[in-house]
Amino acid sequence: MAAVIVSWNIVMLPASLIAAKRDDRELTDEEIAFFVQGFSTGDIPDYQMSAMAMAIYLNEMTPREIATLTSEMLRSGTQLAWPDDAIPRVDKHSTGGIGDKTSLILAPMLAACGLQVPMISGRGLGATGGTLDKLEAIPGFRTNLTLDEITRLTQTVGCVITGASAELAPADRKLYALRDVTATVPSIPLITSSIMSKKLAESLDALVLDVKFGSGAFMKSREKATELAHSLVRTGERMGVRTTALLTDMNQPLGRMCGNAVEVLESMDVLKGGGPNDVRQLSIELCAELMMSAGISSSFTESRSRAARTLDDGSAFERYRRMVRAQGGDPDARLSVAPAHDASADREGVVSAIDTEALGLAIIALGGGRRRIGDPIDHAAGLEMLVRIGDRVQSGQPLVRIFARDSADVEESVRTAITISDDGSASDLIVDRIAAGERRVSTLRGIQP
Ligand code: URA
Repeated sequence: MAAVIVSWNIVMLPASLIAAKRDDRELTDEEIAFFVQGFSTGDIPDYQMSAMAMAIYLNEMTPREIATLTSEMLRSGTQLAWPDDAIPRVDKHSTGGIGDKTSLILAPMLAACGLQVPMISGRGLGATGGTLDKLEAIPGFRTNLTLDEITRLTQTVGCVITGASAELAPADRKLYALRDVTATVPSIPLITSSIMSKKLAESLDALVLDVKFGSGAFMKSREKATELAHSLVRTGERMGVRTTALLTDMNQPLGRMCGNAVEVLESMDVLKGGGPNDVRQLSIELCAELMMSAGISSSFTESRSRAARTLDDGSAFERYRRMVRAQGGDPDARLSVAPAHDASADREGVVSAIDTEALGLAIIALGGGRRRIGDPIDHAAGLEMLVRIGDRVQSGQPLVRIFARDSADVEESVRTAITISDDGSASDLIVDRIAAGERRVSTLRGIQP
C-alpha cells in the first residue's frame, strides 16, 4: 500500500485522501502531489484513482486545487524546450464539435503571422471529430512526431499538428482512460487539468480556448461551458501562460463539411481565401486572440485584418503545404470522397434546430469515426450541410448530402436530426470572450453561423 512520510509527523494514505475529498475537504498541494505521483508510478492503483476521480467529480475542486492537479499532471512527463529567441509559441484548444476544422486553418495562419505553433491534437471523442483523424485523410501524413521532430519542425516550418507523444503528461493519458470507463469525464476540475496539462507541456507563451456549447458539444449548456472556460483561463493564467477563451455555439456543425477528407478539402478552401463564412470568421478571431496575447499586434482591428490577409494572399495556404510536406504528406494528393446521396425534407418550413450530436453519430455509423478505440476510419465518409438554422426549405429539398458507400442506414437519422418548424432563427456563433479577471459580452456579437 502506498504511504509516504511527508514530514516528521505526517503520513499520507491514499484511502484517507479519498475520504477527505469524499467529505468535501480541500486537499493540500502536498496531498495532490502525493496522489498524482503515486498514480503515475503505479504505487496508487487504478481503483483508488477511480475512487478519487469520482470524489472530485462529486465535490469539485477549488481553483488552487485545480492548478495544483494540473501542474502535477504536467510534471508527470516532460515539457518541450525552446531556445531563448523571443519568438512566441502559441496554440489553440477546442473542446470539440462537429465540423470543427479550425486547427487545420489556424496553425498555418499563425505561422504565416510569424508565430510558432507546436499543436498537439487529439482524435475523435464521443460524437465529435478529431483533428488527427482528419489529417490522416492526407496520404502519408504522420501524426506521431517525436519530441525532437515537434521542436525542429515548429522552428523550421512554423507549425506542426501531431498527437501527444507518450512523454507529454503521461498521467493524463492514464487517468483519461480510467475516467472514460468510470463515468467521470464531464467534471470541470478533471477536464481542466487534462486539457491544460497537455497544452502547458508545449511550453507556450499564449493559448486560446474555443469552448463550445450546444447540441454538438461536450457541454450542452452555455452556463456549463462558461464555467469550464473560466476554469481553463484561470488555470492557464495561474501557470504563467496568457490564456483567453471564446465561447462558441455548436448547435449546428461548423461550416458545411463534417467528416475527414471532406473537412480537409473545406479547410483548403478557407486557406485559399474562400470557404464558409463561419469557419473563416472563427479562424480569424482565434488568430487575432493569439496575436494580441503574444503581443505581436496592438489592436484587435489590426490583428483581424492581418489574420484575414494570410488567407487572402495565399501565405497561410503556403504554410499549410509546407507543414503537410514536412509531416510526410502529399499536399497535392487527390482525397477520395465516397459517393453522394441526399437526405431531403419531408415538409416545408424553417430549419429551427439541428441535433448536431446525432449527425456526429451518423458519421461514426458511416465509418468516419470510431465505435471503439483502435477501429479503422473510413476517411472518405462524411456529411455536407446544405441548410443552416433559420433557412426556409421546401418539402423534398435536400437538407444534408451523405458521402458514403452505403447511406441507407443513416438517411433517416440524418433527416430527423434536422427539425423543421413554422419558424426559427439563427443565433450568434461567438457569444462571449473570457480573459483573466474579466468577463464581458464581446464586440463579436453579430458573427453568425
Ligand atoms: N479533452 C481532453 O483532453 N480531456 C478531457 O478531459 C476532455 C476533453
